Amino acid sequence: MELLPLVCLCLLSCSGDGSVVVTVEEGSDAMLPCSINTKENIEKLTFDWKKGRQEVFFYQSGKHYNNGGRTGQDKQFEGRVFHFEDELKHGNASIKITRTQLTDSGNYACTFPPDRNPSSVTLHVGAAPKPFITILAETKDWVLLQCEAHGDPLPTLEWKDSDDNTLPADTPQISVRGGRSYITVNVTVTKADRYRCVATQEKFSHQIGSQIYVLLNGAASEPSVTTIKTDGVTVLQCVVKGASPKPKVEWKDSSGNILPVKDLKETERGDSYDIVLQTTLTKTDNFRCVVTQEEINHQIYAEIDLNINGLSAGAIAGFVVLSLLLVVAIVGGVGGGLYIKHLKKENREKYEEKREPQTEPDSSTSLKESS
Ligand SMILES: *[C@@H]1O[C@H](CO)[C@@H](O)[C@H](O)[C@H]1NC(C)=O
Repeated sequence: MELLPLVCLCLLSCSGDGSVVVTVEEGSDAMLPCSINTKENIEKLTFDWKKGRQEVFFYQSGKHYNNGGRTGQDKQFEGRVFHFEDELKHGNASIKITRTQLTDSGNYACTFPPDRNPSSVTLHVGAAPKPFITILAETKDWVLLQCEAHGDPLPTLEWKDSDDNTLPADTPQISVRGGRSYITVNVTVTKADRYRCVATQEKFSHQIGSQIYVLLNGAASEPSVTTIKTDGVTVLQCVVKGASPKPKVEWKDSSGNILPVKDLKETERGDSYDIVLQTTLTKTDNFRCVVTQEEINHQIYAEIDLNINGLSAGAIAGFVVLSLLLVVAIVGGVGGGLYIKHLKKENREKYEEKREPQTEPDSSTSLKESS
């Protein structure tokens, strides 16, 4: 989870009393809107943001807390609140609170003295981020999935299949790690499908989900790719679980060259295989762990972008399934999504799809993210 970007999710909506509600994840930035009705230039005017008695941001003719022009800002907000300089001429006195904390939640008032009514904004910090899905165990006939989420208040979790039926899941478990509470719900699924885990916080009317594609009958699902750093050497690791027949697993660079094997562990469980393949990171590139089961004409891969200096590059797994047996590729127009339909030997129809995360609140959960 180390490289997860903090997603700012600002849900603007109006509550019953006409004030604005802003809901964000803890640690992300929050924009609190405020504009003067007349849209007049307010560069030479004064406006004041308060949370109860706490001074959040005070602006007077170009002077404010961030340029040493004013003092008195509440400690809680020091160095975290910014206005939008270029917007002032349009009467826009909105502010941004960065790196939000749970204690930032509450009611804010934006005032233009002396005689205008304050406008109010309710900030909720603690929206649940996208839940994480992990495969806990896998056989030819079933897969045990785990969904984990956090947020304040803790969300409720539901597992759904692609027809939107709620699945009977295990009792939710609550655990605490690093001072934060997590909720997990496990489910065992026995058919190939797309499964979604949906986190709901009724208090915020907030809902967010992740999804995973389950392939059964031994076809390998998307491998999980990670990096491990030992003695200054970075190792790329690819994990394949519960594949049958035994797959060939390879690390490739962006030119398609197969990278040397540093370590290969194969474990047989029943008649399926778990495989852990490692290679040493020697350059900045986009790497791909490719899993091939020739007997059933199935290939799947996960990708990771890595920077040899600092390893800071974002790492997100790609997810494409290629089936060479009977391939009907339908490149659909839905959000630029790519659909590959393929028929397996039992004539069972399955599908895989790749979507851009932005096209809907749900987006493909990469196993990379979950590990
Ligand atoms: C005020 O400025 C912010 C930041 O540029 C912008 O997101 C927001 O839409 C603006 N509000 C109005 C009413 O123009």
